[in-house]
Amino acid sequence: MKLKIYPDYAQMSDAAADAIIMVVKEKSNAVICLPTGNTPTLTYELLVRKSNDLGIDFSKVILIGLDEWLGISATTVGSCNHFFNEHLIKHLNFSRKNIYLFDGLTNDPEADCHKINLFIETAGGIDLMVVGIGMNGHIGFNEPGASFDEHAHVTRLHAITIEVGQKYFNTEVKLEKGITLGLRNLLESRNVIMLANGRAKAAIIRQTLEQETSTLLPSTIMQLHDNSALYIDEEAASLLTE
Ligand code: F6R
Repeated sequence: MKLKIYPDYAQMSDAAADAIIMVVKEKSNAVICLPTGNTPTLTYELLVRKSNDLGIDFSKVILIGLDEWLGISATTVGSCNHFFNEHLIKHLNFSRKNIYLFDGLTNDPEADCHKINLFIETAGGIDLMVVGIGMNGHIGFNEPGASFDEHAHVTRLHAITIEVGQKYFNTEVKLEKGITLGLRNLLESRNVIMLANGRAKAAIIRQTLEQETSTLLPSTIMQLHDNSALYIDEEAASLLTE
């Protein structure tokens, strides 16, 4: 695992945007899996700006959304679908047929998980997976205790995720379950980048890097991947001792 520490959030986001562009430039039909949340917001703003300036073509790129809140509609502000539409999809020339986002209102989440697993396999695997990190070390909705051996699946959300998750919504919502790619998908991705910024993430970043790998702290899975990189700013790095 590579560790890259940037002076601030803007420079971390700039590097992350460049990393995504590099993958797309190298492979026009790259399969990229991206997260939502506060962390990648500037990355996507820069990705859109740079891609439009450089004329990067996303028409063959396959976009996979990392996760979604179950029970929340795609049009609800705060849903992952809404986020992807607002921050990425409407600004870049993705083909609709190449976009796979989980449906929070699906009647059959298990079937959707099966479909996405098959889709990834047929597409030849994920070239780049970008993830954030939750305050409890979750990745996607792989909460503490999640198996490293699962592909897409339905999860029961951890109390911290339910509490923190309210920040994305305009009104109070009932958050209980999520649908997410699994940690096995992460291990099988050719490249993985984890992003974290700000002092609030410093303690969990320290644990991620300095604790032994354990399913009790899903983010430690980054240590097991040969082509993983952690992009963090100095604030998130401020508690590192080694
Ligand atoms: C979002 C996701 C979550 C977030 C994590 C950090 O798609 O998968 O795991 O990456 O909760 O969220 P922020 O970036 O808002 O701190």
